[in-house]
Amino acid sequence: MKGVVLAGGLGTRLGSLTKITNKHLLPVYDRPMVFFPIQKLVEAGVGEVIVVTGGNSAGDFLRLLENGRGFGLRRIHYTYQEGSGGIAAALALAEDFVEGERVMVLLGDNLFEESLAPFAERFATQARGARVLLKEVPDPERFGVATVSEGRVMRIVEKPEKPESRFAVTGCYLYDERVFDIVRTLEPSARGELEITDVNNAYLKAGELEYDLLSGWWQDAGSSFEAYARAQSLVREQCRGAGA
Ligand code: G1P
Repeated sequence: MKGVVLAGGLGTRLGSLTKITNKHLLPVYDRPMVFFPIQKLVEAGVGEVIVVTGGNSAGDFLRLLENGRGFGLRRIHYTYQEGSGGIAAALALAEDFVEGERVMVLLGDNLFEESLAPFAERFATQARGARVLLKEVPDPERFGVATVSEGRVMRIVEKPEKPESRFAVTGCYLYDERVFDIVRTLEPSARGELEITDVNNAYLKAGELEYDLLSGWWQDAGSSFEAYARAQSLVREQCRGAGA
């Protein structure tokens, strides 16, 4: 399985912090934000990763991540997203790199406490389709929200005004090799972007979307100043717990 880290976008929700740099290069306690998704992919057994970046400071990713060996990667590639076409449009840029394999996609600002290896292992036993990771949160309206019933996802709504559940769809997505064909069928949403939620809903409609629930903490560190500050303290606590 190949890995994709989506680290483009303009990061406007972090105001002047991202005026001259990419939000995924900002520090979260002791590391640049983009280290976290890369480390999670390696921990889950992924050896080949493509980083999709864009906007400010794209060249800095190469200086920072180098050839990926320092993370234990066999191979790291980089590609560049022009403008902000949405998460699914960014993913489409990884198609040639993925070469018909399955993919584990992580949003570059999503931080997870627990190892993602068990979810990747479960996906490996899944015959086809996609798998999403859900987390119960107090403020689901900020995310894609999944309604679940009897172990199945019934629907996913992107940032609903009145969420039907507290289950946020986190930024870790496992897809089979058909994901790029699905992206080609998408139409831009009201905010003019190709939405990852529409990709997940396409698998759902085909009856091929599975899910797992996360038990550890999860933060989308780049979505607001609050989330960024919380991410710093969660990582700090984790590092102190580990005796760092
Ligand atoms: C994106 C997705 C959303 C998901 C979130 C997780 O939102 O569109 O479904 O819940 O990431 O971080 P965005 O951060 O692009 O607004």
